[in-house]
Amino acid sequence: GAQVPACPLAQKAAEFDAFSGPYQLDPAEALRWSRDQLPVFFSPKLGYWIVSRYEDIKSVFRDNILFSPRNVLEKITPATPEAMEVLKGYGYAMNRTMVNEDEPVHMERRRALMDHFLPEHLETKQEMIRRLTREKVDAFIDRGRVDLVDAMLYEVPLNVALHFLGVPEDDIQVLRNFSVAHSINTWGKPTDAQQLAIAHDVGRFWQYAGKIIEKMKREPNGTGWMHETIRKNVEMPEIVPDSYVHSMMMAIIVAAHETTSLASANMFKTLLGHRQAWEDICADPSLIPNAVEECLRYAGSIVAWRRQTTAPARLGDVDLPEGAKLLIVQASANRDPRHFEEPDRFDIYRDNAVDHMTFGYGAHQCMGKNIGRMEMRIFLEEISRRLPHLRLAEQEFAYMVNTSFRGPEHVWVEWDPDLNPERTRP
Ligand code: HEM
Repeated sequence: GAQVPACPLAQKAAEFDAFSGPYQLDPAEALRWSRDQLPVFFSPKLGYWIVSRYEDIKSVFRDNILFSPRNVLEKITPATPEAMEVLKGYGYAMNRTMVNEDEPVHMERRRALMDHFLPEHLETKQEMIRRLTREKVDAFIDRGRVDLVDAMLYEVPLNVALHFLGVPEDDIQVLRNFSVAHSINTWGKPTDAQQLAIAHDVGRFWQYAGKIIEKMKREPNGTGWMHETIRKNVEMPEIVPDSYVHSMMMAIIVAAHETTSLASANMFKTLLGHRQAWEDICADPSLIPNAVEECLRYAGSIVAWRRQTTAPARLGDVDLPEGAKLLIVQASANRDPRHFEEPDRFDIYRDNAVDHMTFGYGAHQCMGKNIGRMEMRIFLEEISRRLPHLRLAEQEFAYMVNTSFRGPEHVWVEWDPDLNPERTRP
């Protein structure tokens, strides 16, 4: 039966703060006490129920009827009235996309738009990803010191995403600012003053997305997933409505590239921080696929996701009312000793690393997971082969404050160019 939590636990629940302190430093570590003692608790500061154990999180993901994804793209910090006015001025109308759509529409839409994500189609992207990666590495390989994020991990996933979507690649810097605004707007805690500036950027991003759609409509035979979406919008507007096309155009640019950039930054930070694992990979590249999964488990780029109950529900020992908002912390699931043996050990040989929750689970599981994985593998193949003597530079890692997207803003690395394998063995 339900237990009344002992005082220290109630106090920990009351103190839990998703936007500062331990959770921002290390979300999995910040919830160790919860995994051990109070796996589902209400956070009065956030107004969400926090869920921290692997099995509970999996069962929430599994039942997308009782635990609806409708709140996935809601502003976690509500807009101020002034910010709302600004957004209205831009005609901002972010609505259902894929990730926050309910059944039965979601499945029909997902099926209608699945082709581009099938392995045969992704196979054709491999060469492009490798070429883009090599061009970036060529540009810095003689330098001896570089920020991997600025030098490749930001732009390659962005270019791959735009190519996959069929979105024109003209304004990369503009997109970068917009992405940050959209992420803080959705998952961050902007101050009242920041809310205004962000509302302007989000409003402009919305209008920019509309312009991209207009431009793409003028090329009815264009290639890429968003061109396919625009054609499906004409063929089956009840399943792929206009509001979907516009909302998705804005959301997917972030979903397809920010997630992958951050996961890749986490991966290099983690691997270079575990020297033996790095050297094992350099010696045997066949270890790379499982190393990527272990990186996604140990330091994933999506650390928490949301759901909302559509009826009273029981989760573990806790009764949730209808309409309860849940923050399901995948980073915590990924460190749950009930599922992963010695979960705090980084182990590229772990046989169940792939069970991680970083791509979600069930009906909404990430459609782009194999694109993300392919990029991460190629980054690792290219860098471990050409710069095996790479090491992390002394640095403080900085992270954007938010509940869900996690990865260092910069990853500075160093090496001696005279020892580059392509110089020493001709
Ligand atoms: C959904 C993470 C890369 C497209 C999701 C979800 C997560 C996620 C957590 C929600 C899953 C759920 O509710 O069960 C990630 C991570 C990535 C990544 C960590 C990179 C490492 C990508 C890429 C694309 C993409 C590259 C597209 C090119 C999507 C789409 C959905 C989704 C369309 C919605 C699926 C649905 O609701 O049916 N992703 N993602 N993602 N992702 Fe990804």
